[in-house]
Amino acid sequence: MGEPNPDADAIEAADLKYVMRPWTHPKGEPVIIAKAKGCVVTDVHGKDYLDLTAGYFVNNAGHCHPKIAEAAARQVHEVLQVSGKHGSVPMVRLAEKLITLAPKTVHKAFFSTGGSEANEFALKMARQFKKKADIAYLENGYHGLTLGSLEVTASEKYRESAGKPLGTDNYAIPTAYCYRCKWGPNTTCKTECLDSLGAKLDARPNTAAIIAEIVQAVGGLAPPQKWWDRVDRERKQRGILLIADEIQTGLGRTGKMFAVEHYGLEPDIMTGGKGLCGGVGSLGLSAASDEISKAFFGGTTPTNGGNAVSCAGGLAMLEVILEEKLIENCAKMGRYFTEAAWALKDPWIGDVRFTGLLGGIELVRQRESKDVLGKAEMSAVKDALHDAGMLITISGLHGNVLRLQPPLSITSAQIDQFLAALRKVLNSVRGAG
Ligand SMILES: Cc1ncc(COP(=O)(O)O)c(C=O)c1O
Repeated sequence: MGEPNPDADAIEAADLKYVMRPWTHPKGEPVIIAKAKGCVVTDVHGKDYLDLTAGYFVNNAGHCHPKIAEAAARQVHEVLQVSGKHGSVPMVRLAEKLITLAPKTVHKAFFSTGGSEANEFALKMARQFKKKADIAYLENGYHGLTLGSLEVTASEKYRESAGKPLGTDNYAIPTAYCYRCKWGPNTTCKTECLDSLGAKLDARPNTAAIIAEIVQAVGGLAPPQKWWDRVDRERKQRGILLIADEIQTGLGRTGKMFAVEHYGLEPDIMTGGKGLCGGVGSLGLSAASDEISKAFFGGTTPTNGGNAVSCAGGLAMLEVILEEKLIENCAKMGRYFTEAAWALKDPWIGDVRFTGLLGGIELVRQRESKDVLGKAEMSAVKDALHDAGMLITISGLHGNVLRLQPPLSITSAQIDQFLAALRKVLNSVRGAG
């Protein structure tokens, strides 16, 4: 328990009155956070939460890491923001670091201000280079909510938020949801879900690129190696570019620096965002090969793209991730989470899916039927976890996945703390129903 802010109620009342929040509120949300450290955040009333969202998958090195805070504070006294047409030392250094760590097929970094914008620039790059307009995206894919990114985001609910018909240049291709595979258990997978892929791509000869999260964040869907091999083969045969959206999967989240490394994929364009700024302001990254970069005329620079303080924060975060071996910890804690969650032997736990610390637990009415746990029970589980001091989000194609993506520095003791709460909550919600 932290110090309560004497103005806590007034702050919450002001939030309600002045802040636009165009989404539904689970019980207890929004949480107005006054302090954050490592994996724990404290609200204005002084209540602590274990943050299994890492501030929406941004604070991979933990909240307010002292090295990130110091780097940002130092930079504040040097240079804040300069035109993207010029540059700052941390911006150049961050580009250098990212390109050194990235797959060898991307050579140059272009900075913007966030994930959706980064994807929009990536789409521009692909279209300008290929001189083709169409983009394929994966069913269930999420690439952001601005109008351009929305066109390659699959969810109808999100697409409707555009308030206008979306362009017809973009189309969906199959994704791999192995737990619910129509063709049988994934041990016998013959990538049947991709049998229609070749014909779909052939029907759209104007396709410039496939944009994809290599491991899908909505529900934590990680396809088998042979699935990605086949998609990669089909797209290469047709000269279609691969845009890897590493906005959520990047910077260690999946137990590798970038998710493409799990599959040996070599994207032509790679995007980044979220933790790229170390939680300091915001950054978007669209990185591409030399060839694609040469053909790219941006239009103009995004005004605040590559902010010097954000770049200093991002650089410091990368250093912390590497120095403190957080990628190794992430892979280890992902395995620990998986084993410990299965060990609960709860009948509602249908699947536990972690790639590193990306993914979560899919809840079902019973394991054999895999019927999704209903909305009412899901809300009750979420609310009770919230009361128990667990900050989580619900995700998944059917809204029945507990998305559990803490900072990569989480410990096994903190995972045990969460699972002890989950065990109680699942039993009590089941008992009440
Ligand atoms: C995979 C992926 N792409 C793009 C975005 C959009 O990023 P932003 O919210 O910074 O615009 C997100 C955000 O959740 C994401 O997870």
